[in-house]
This record gives sequence, C-alpha cells and structure tokens, in this order.
Amino acid sequence: MRHAPHLTECQGWRASLLWFAEPTTPKAHYETDGLLVTAREADGIVRIQAIGPYRDLAPPYPQLPVTHWPGRCIAPGFVDLHIHYPQTDVIGSPAEGLLPWLEHYTFPHEKQFSDPAYAQEVTTFFLDELMRQGVTTALCFATAHPESVDVFMAEAQKRRLRMITGKVLQDRHSPDRLRDTDTPLSLRQTEELIRRWHGVDRLGYAITPRFAPTSSPAQLHGAGEIAQQFPDVWVQSHVAENLDEIRWVHELFPEARSYLDVYDRAGLLRQRSVYAHCIHLDDTDRRRMAEVGASAAVSPTSNLFLGSGFFDYPASDAAGLRYGLASDVGGGTSFSPFHTMHAAYTVARQSVGRAGISLSPEHLWWQHTAGAAAALDLNGQVGNLLPGCEADFVVLNPQATPLLARRTAQTETLAEWLFAMVVLGDERLIAQTVVQGQPVNDNRA
Ligand code: GUN
Ligand code: ZN
Repeated sequence: MRHAPHLTECQGWRASLLWFAEPTTPKAHYETDGLLVTAREADGIVRIQAIGPYRDLAPPYPQLPVTHWPGRCIAPGFVDLHIHYPQTDVIGSPAEGLLPWLEHYTFPHEKQFSDPAYAQEVTTFFLDELMRQGVTTALCFATAHPESVDVFMAEAQKRRLRMITGKVLQDRHSPDRLRDTDTPLSLRQTEELIRRWHGVDRLGYAITPRFAPTSSPAQLHGAGEIAQQFPDVWVQSHVAENLDEIRWVHELFPEARSYLDVYDRAGLLRQRSVYAHCIHLDDTDRRRMAEVGASAAVSPTSNLFLGSGFFDYPASDAAGLRYGLASDVGGGTSFSPFHTMHAAYTVARQSVGRAGISLSPEHLWWQHTAGAAAALDLNGQVGNLLPGCEADFVVLNPQATPLLARRTAQTETLAEWLFAMVVLGDERLIAQTVVQGQPVNDNRA
C-alpha cells in the first residue's frame, strides 16, 4: 500500500493482470488471479495503490469493494504517441504519397475546424472512439485554429482524461483558412493556450509546428523560443517521413545538415520533443535525438498506407533512441492499438539494410503502453499498473471472438497468448476501458 494521505474511493479490481514491473524494460509481468487496488488521492487523481496476487493482497483489505472479472485480464490503458483528432474523417483516403494526400484531402478537411460546433462534434466522436479502443492517453494534433484546441481540451477535461494537444503552426505552403496569416499572432496564440491549459487537471500542451515545409524560419524559431521558455511543455511535429518531403526540406533549408537539423537549429529538439515517423534519418540524427532525450512516434499503419517507408528498429536501438507506437490517424488506417502493434511487427520484419527482426509481443505491447509513456516523459504516471500510476486501464476479453477464444486457448506461454491478441485483436477485445476508476466505454463485456 502506498503511504498517501487522505485516500477516498478505495476500490479493488480482481482479474488476471498484465503490467511492466520495470517500466523501461519491455518484459511483461503476468498474474493469473490478481488484485489491483485504486483510490483517489488528495490532489483528486485516482491512482493505483497496490498490485499483486489476490491471495496475498486481499486479506489486508477486508472492507474493500471488489469488482471481479473472472476470465478477463486487466492491462494498462494504451498510449497513442501521435494522432490527429481532426483527421478522424480523413481515414482511408488514398493518394500518391504524403504530399498529394495532404493537399487533396487533409488540408481542405482541416479548414472546417475554425467552427467550434464542428470541432465539438468530431472531438466527442474521437474521444468516444479512443475509449472503445482502449486508448486512454494521446499526444494529439489539433488544427491551426486555436478554437480547435479549446474545444478538445475542454472535452478531455470534462472526461478527466490525460490528453496532450496543441494548435498547429503553419504559416506558409498551406491554403487560405488553414494558414497562419500573422506569424507573431500564431506564436502569441500558442503562449496563451499554454497558459490556459498546460498542467490544468491532467491536460498538457504541445507546441505543434506541422512540419518544416509549412513553417517559415521565423515561425520555427519563434516556436523554439517558446519551447525553451516552457521546458515542461511538449513539442510535436513530423520528420523524415517521405522522400519527396525530404527533398523539399533540403531546397527550403539548404543550410541544414539534415531534415532533423532544421528543428535542432530552431531550438525544437529537446526532452519532451516527439517526432512522428523518423523513417529516413541517418545515425547522426538518431544519436542526436537520443542525446537530447527526444522521442520517435513510430506510425506503422500510416507508413504502410502512404508508402512512406519502414522505421529502422535495429538502428534506433543501436543509437539509444526512445520510441513508442502511434496510430497517426488519418494517415494511419486504424484507431486500434492491436492493429498498430501488428503493423509494427510487419514493419520490423522489413528493417532496412539488415535481416528483418522479429519483435516479441511483449516488446510491441510495451511500445504502446509503458514505452510510449517513457517516450513522453510520463514514466510512472500512465501506461502501467505500478503503484503510483494513474488508474487508467483496460479489461481484455480473450474470448471476444470465436477465433480469439480458440487460438488463445491453445497457447502455452505468455508470449504466445499475447501474440494471438496482437495479431487477431481489435476493439472487441476491450471489454472495458476504465479511466480514473470509472468505466467509460460501451463495448459489451
Ligand atoms: N506531415 C505534415 N502533416 C502531416 C499529417 O497531417 N500527417 C502525416 N502523416 N504527415 C504529415
Ligand atoms: Zn501525423
């Protein structure tokens, strides 16, 4: 039991349990008949107080109200390291690669988010969908309109979620009604939104230059100054996703050593910077990201759908680069962490220039939970079930479909059981999503 004062709403949750005993190591821990104890602490946040075998933990808590889920498994809520809520309705738009996809579908669609009523309807659907899929924390793009941030933050706050988002900065090479026409104003809006939302309840702000081609050097450097002024605010952007994009960046920023170096020179590469894709980096880039403590958001369904390339796991590990998994909806094709983990396995089999590797299911699961949390610098807060973590978790039903029931029943090791879920799973596996001790999804148990 943690020695936290003023505990209220103590609750017990009995089922099998899956968690990461050493959060920075992708080795899963499993307890067949476990108990998770949660309680609201003095700051109003519901946290995990204890985890362990039911037979050991139950006796000290004779009065504890316990919810029992026989045959189910409690696992950490998933953490999506990169997603765009305004692209919910862009999913499944085919194109000849990234730049035509942005021009033909994404930019026109995002213009609509100047309307708060429209942004509200999409936010409501989006957060409902994350809950159905078992995703309890996300690092999320809004659009260039400050209203799109206000709406999302207010709804996430109402639902008591840990969410991070930011106004997109894009002051060139973008259409009217999506482009920042006044660069100093876009930076002032960023600062205002940081002061309004960052650190309020469980909300966080991310300074969000879309990508180097759509920001002027003045906007990038202004964003970098804000990033230095507010070191605990996140930075999110895209880097080295697509070869045409990279050629364009070299034309626009000939003085930079590499695409990543554009951000580095602007002061946008630091701890709590999360860059989506990181496919076509070189080892100098990877080592530089590792050195400053920046992270990569690996987005395999997006990379396969847009034909962008394959994240190089061996090279990233060799450089000590931190990474986690992301859906990148709407370039990505699914909100489901199971689909993303499955795609990451496929991508790792293609590791560039080397024999492909076979990622273990524990590693894949870690990349979407405790590993993604560590990449966000939220190790020990989300993405795990260790005492002290916030009480956001999923309840898995491995019998959710006839094939899942049949396949999981035949597994002999934890790895085989997890692999069956990674490959066959979708939202039907998520019997419950529990946020702050409250069930929040409507999937049938
Ligand atoms: N690069 C710049 N904007 C985007 C975006 O919205 N999605 C993806 N996948 N890449 C981008
Ligand atoms: Zn993206």
